[in-house]
Amino acid sequence: MKKEIAFIFDLDGVIVDTAKYHFLAWKNLADSLGFVFTEEHNELLKGVSRVRSLEILLEIGKVTLSEEEKLKLLISKNLEYLEFVNKMTADEILPSITNLLDYLDANNIKYALGSASKNAPLILEKVGLLNRFTAIVDGNDVSKAKPDPEVFLIGAKKLNMKPENCVVVEDAIAGVEAANAAKMISIGIGDAELLGKATYVLKDTAGFTMDFLKNVMK
Ligand code: BG6
Ligand code: MG
Repeated sequence: MKKEIAFIFDLDGVIVDTAKYHFLAWKNLADSLGFVFTEEHNELLKGVSRVRSLEILLEIGKVTLSEEEKLKLLISKNLEYLEFVNKMTADEILPSITNLLDYLDANNIKYALGSASKNAPLILEKVGLLNRFTAIVDGNDVSKAKPDPEVFLIGAKKLNMKPENCVVVEDAIAGVEAANAAKMISIGIGDAELLGKATYVLKDTAGFTMDFLKNVMK
């Protein structure tokens, strides 16, 4: 393990499984507009910004709304989502993530957060991880959404690392594409067919074994 590297973690779907809460809030919104929003539809919103998520959802329901109405829905959806977030605890950290962070700390390997979520700091605080990251880049810091590499390039800068020495951990196709566009090493978490463009793919976060890490860092 000689190469100096740093990690940049996506949040939703990598550190915590918040997709289920986004789903419940988006589904209620679709119900109120009179159309069905399924878990398959929800897959399309992973890694996608809040505003773009609403646009996709409205396209699914073939609903056209004014900017003012959209803004109201974005606010009410987020308030409902935050009701779930506010109940989150460290129990919701995904398998192996705490061990992985402990390992990185013990080996002086820096890590940052690179998330599309504007709620990222609150979620990290709820699960007790807010103070562990050297840098946090979230939806409030970027002007271009994934698959644009901006979020990860800002993360690398904040870590004072070259992009090619950064390892991104991502569960979304757009996130893997963003990491690749930033010329970073990418670890996709999820379906190997969907995340085939990643440098490595793990079925889930439990796959972060010592052997796997040693292989990534060699
Ligand atoms: C991403 C999620 O991390 O954050 C998306 O994968 C979500 O599903 C996006 O839409 C924005 O999140 P938030 O918390 O700002 O609404
Ligand atoms: Mg994600």
